[in-house]
Amino acid sequence: MENSSFSLQGRRILLVISGGIAAYKSLDLIRRLKERGATVRCILTKGGAEFVTPLSVSSLSGEKVYDDLFSLTDEHEMGHIRLTRTADLAVVAPASANLIARLAQGRADDLASTTLLASDKPILVVPAMNAKMWQSEAVQANIAVLAARGTMLVRPGTGEMACGEVGEGRMAEVAEIVADIEKYFAQPGPLSGRRALVTSGPTHEPLDPVRFIGNRSSGKQGHAIAAALAREGAAVTLVTGPVALPDPAGIRTIHVQTAREMLEACEAALPADIAVCAAAVADWRPAEESAQKLKKGAAEPALRLVENPDILAMIAREGNIRPRLVVGFAAETEKADENARRKLAGKNCDWIVVNDVSGGAVFDADENKVTLLARDSAGKVVTESWDAMPKDDVARLLAARVSDHFKAA
Ligand code: C5P
Repeated sequence: MENSSFSLQGRRILLVISGGIAAYKSLDLIRRLKERGATVRCILTKGGAEFVTPLSVSSLSGEKVYDDLFSLTDEHEMGHIRLTRTADLAVVAPASANLIARLAQGRADDLASTTLLASDKPILVVPAMNAKMWQSEAVQANIAVLAARGTMLVRPGTGEMACGEVGEGRMAEVAEIVADIEKYFAQPGPLSGRRALVTSGPTHEPLDPVRFIGNRSSGKQGHAIAAALAREGAAVTLVTGPVALPDPAGIRTIHVQTAREMLEACEAALPADIAVCAAAVADWRPAEESAQKLKKGAAEPALRLVENPDILAMIAREGNIRPRLVVGFAAETEKADENARRKLAGKNCDWIVVNDVSGGAVFDADENKVTLLARDSAGKVVTESWDAMPKDDVARLLAARVSDHFKAA
């Protein structure tokens, strides 16, 4: 199978492996999905575990495997609800006649059926069974029930089966399943046709050819937001200061060093429908940049600073190129709410994402705890506090909010 691009970059797939000889093909499916950039989390049913081992599934997926032996601790760490909430698509492959029947009936008698019943995500079912079973009225009636509910199906193939009989029933080839999953994710998203500009990372303001003033921003949150908006269908331009992160796949990424370069790159990227300024722009830069490295021994240099342009305020300024939605960030060490409200009005943005950095824990961390402040059309400020969660989840939630905002408008 051709190892195509990162067509599934950042997509999260929940793969349910139920009982059937075809379960061995699911191991290859995991590899192919991961090659394309997806994360794959697996539930192995009791029947599935008769055909493939939890160890091979976890080795290939690089994730813990969830099965019916899950303990209370597992339920605490990753309950069945969270398993579906943290996925974009559930795939059942192979789907046995038994699991299909339980799905059709809405049963919740093991982890797989309970999770799928609680799922708020689309489900793709890939049946695998004996040809007579597949053709049976019972199975076809169950499939019809699932189809009527919007469950997607990859039809079984025809050929010789493990039992020696010939007919329709064997699980579709892995390439076909992958192609259907890619097709599903390639559909236009809620932000298709929209342009987004995202700033990320710190800026470095040079003192001399080797020294700079900067800050501890890693760019993780900004990059995750750019990727999340792209997954919702937006055409994203990411303007980033110096970070140790790879450019997100499929996103036009412009690298800059200083605030002035960032401003220039942002101006060139406008007009846009959405702007998210997550960069930690240095507020000041040295008034003079020495052409040569400053030497010790001479008089101690006096550092005179001048203020940098405010990129967010420039983007949010009223005028015919103002994006419809402008989102700023506020890293505050004290009076977070008060300062954020002032920033919201002072910089003329629509939303502010506030993180409390008083503990210093946000920089370079993978988790973030934020509060979203939104100014409605009447100027009223609505506050919403989110639980601590991975920066990637903050990004997904923010992107979903952006999509809702444009849907409602
Ligand atoms: O004023 P403060 O730096 O706290 O504001 C933070 C917000 O303003 C962030 O969204 C940041 O990206 C943006 N900002 C900017 N240009 C600056 C300073 C801040 O875009 N020079």
